[in-house]
Amino acid sequence: MAHEVFDRVEALIKDIEQATATTPEAVEAFRIRYLGTKNVLKPLMGEMRNIPNEQKRDFGQLVNRAKEVAQAKFDALQAATAAQAGADAGAKFDLSAPAEPLPLGSRHPIALTMRRIISIFERIGFTVAEGPEVEDDWHNFSAMNTPEDHPARDMQDTFYVAAGMPAGPDNADMLLRTHTSSVQARTMENQQPPIRIIAPGRVYRNETISARSHAQFHQVEGLYIAEKVSFADMKATLLHFAREMYGDKTKIRLRPSYFPFTEPSAEMDIWWGLESEHDHRITKGTGWLEILGCGMVDPQVLINCGIDPEKYTGYAFGMGIERQAMLLYNITDIRLMFENDVRFLKQFAGVL
Ligand code: PHE
Repeated sequence: MAHEVFDRVEALIKDIEQATATTPEAVEAFRIRYLGTKNVLKPLMGEMRNIPNEQKRDFGQLVNRAKEVAQAKFDALQAATAAQAGADAGAKFDLSAPAEPLPLGSRHPIALTMRRIISIFERIGFTVAEGPEVEDDWHNFSAMNTPEDHPARDMQDTFYVAAGMPAGPDNADMLLRTHTSSVQARTMENQQPPIRIIAPGRVYRNETISARSHAQFHQVEGLYIAEKVSFADMKATLLHFAREMYGDKTKIRLRPSYFPFTEPSAEMDIWWGLESEHDHRITKGTGWLEILGCGMVDPQVLINCGIDPEKYTGYAFGMGIERQAMLLYNITDIRLMFENDVRFLKQFAGVL
């Protein structure tokens, strides 16, 4: 009788040692069977009272061994299935496969064009200068030789900042700058020649929005003041710019024009050609395209900004960035550049 119970435990130990379980569910079933609160070893302990006294100790040890074997087996089975699960996951994910491409943004055509213009001038010694977009009347107009009643103020319809708005220390005549010439004024006030700067930035004009003009756009203006700066220096610099920007065969012409802050003043055209119908349309049948305004800094502007016009001369120029971007990238409607439609923006991916 006692032997028989010993044999049952021995048999159980064999079962435990030979048990297999390849899924988490099977491992759990094993645990419930041999280690759970109602495990099969428990009733065997109940047999203790039937075991002769001198064998009780051996029997107890045997049942304990069965428990230890069950625990060890459970640990081993659990480790094996966990490893298998890891291996399965590894098989599903090929870690050497190329990653899903992340959608990359691209630079905006205005930024691309601005960077290109800046880098052309930086390479010939100009440095970037900046100023506020909410500007005072002095820097935007009066210092630039455009006093209050000057008819030239009508050339640039202005957004004024309403009195009482917290725009500046004295906001009586605050406005959204209509050109970055205001940065020229600020630079001349703070620095004696030689001055060689370009001023890129956003400007505002109270204009009807259409395919060709917008109430907000960007400009780059340039200013060079030193001793004996001539109109010829300006022309050579602008020719260099035009060729870097539009190709090294580009031809330019300067037409007399008027700006309050330059004298003489000119507008620069580049020869665009008349090959396609599109060329005819954008050049109005002339083959020439206006790309910037320029001129010799008016002595009055130098005086306004504290620079001696007897000693120094200089030239200035200014251009709209959107206009250059439209020419460079064949964009037919300026409004596209402010709508941020990704179908439009995507076309500039990878353009440097
Ligand atoms: N400020 C002028 C404009 O906005 C451009 C310009 C700059 C012309 C410098 C001449 C010299 O139209």
